[in-house]
Amino acid sequence: MAKKIAIAIHKGGVGKTTTAKNLAAALAQAGKTTLLVDLDEQANATKGLGVDPAQVPVTLNDLFVSTEIAPASAVLTTDVDGLHLIAGHPELSRTETGMATLRGADPTAPDPIMALKGLLAELDDRYDFIIMDTPPSMNYMTINALAAADELVIPAAASAYSADGLARTIEAYERAVGSYNPALRLRGILVTRFKRTNAAAAVFDGIGDAYSDLVIPQLIVESTAVDEAEQLNQPVVLYDPESPAAQGYKRVAEILSNGK
Ligand SMILES: Nc1ncnc2c1ncn2[C@@H]1O[C@H](COP(=O)(O)OP(=O)(O)O)[C@@H](O)[C@H]1O
Ligand SMILES: [Mg+2]
Repeated sequence: MAKKIAIAIHKGGVGKTTTAKNLAAALAQAGKTTLLVDLDEQANATKGLGVDPAQVPVTLNDLFVSTEIAPASAVLTTDVDGLHLIAGHPELSRTETGMATLRGADPTAPDPIMALKGLLAELDDRYDFIIMDTPPSMNYMTINALAAADELVIPAAASAYSADGLARTIEAYERAVGSYNPALRLRGILVTRFKRTNAAAAVFDGIGDAYSDLVIPQLIVESTAVDEAEQLNQPVVLYDPESPAAQGYKRVAEILSNGK
């Protein structure tokens, strides 16, 4: 059984995709077979692993749209040994809208919230970890990730902190537990994009005060290596493993592997 972790917060630009792809790559580098699933129509995690969504024969969207396609046929290998990918695609946005419409139109149709969970069940025994990157809102793609996940990790950028985004995500988590995924565990809040400034330190302290037990005891610093790696469509843990951000993600991978 794979441990399935959703990376989500109702906000963009906070390091969701950076976290998803580097955590997945760090887990693979540590010898855990890992699948990264890109639920964002922007497909940044896909591109960030050097894959052009337009060139992918079977994307996550195809799996949602055509139930006869086997999920295994969407699995791609990547430049990171042990890391596989199911690619995102711009059409996910249309599918997301369709899920919302379907829900209203035909209550007897299969619940669109559970679509991803069904797809991943067929791949579950092949992986140690399945990491899900999500769009910047609590839309049906994110809800699919929350329904399929065992754990939720919320990345909160110290540089673009939004208490509102964090609170809305925790509400969505509570709704998930209350209605469609009672076993979902809020694994923690990961502070990302941390700069050594007083303002960032104040944000960090503020998150700690509000959510003390939930803060993962390893933050991710803001690092130019992350941007350089992104320009080259690589995870920073591959591009510059010694950089502080890469070291941070490796440590977070350890923490999540050990269950501490
Ligand atoms: N630790 C970091 N250091 C430097 N830049 C970062 C870091 N984390 C994220 N970024 C940059 O911030 C931008 C937004 O990050 P991203 O992971 O795409 O956020 P999201 O998926 O939440 O929208 C990207 O350009 C990314 O390279
Ligand atoms: Mg993103």
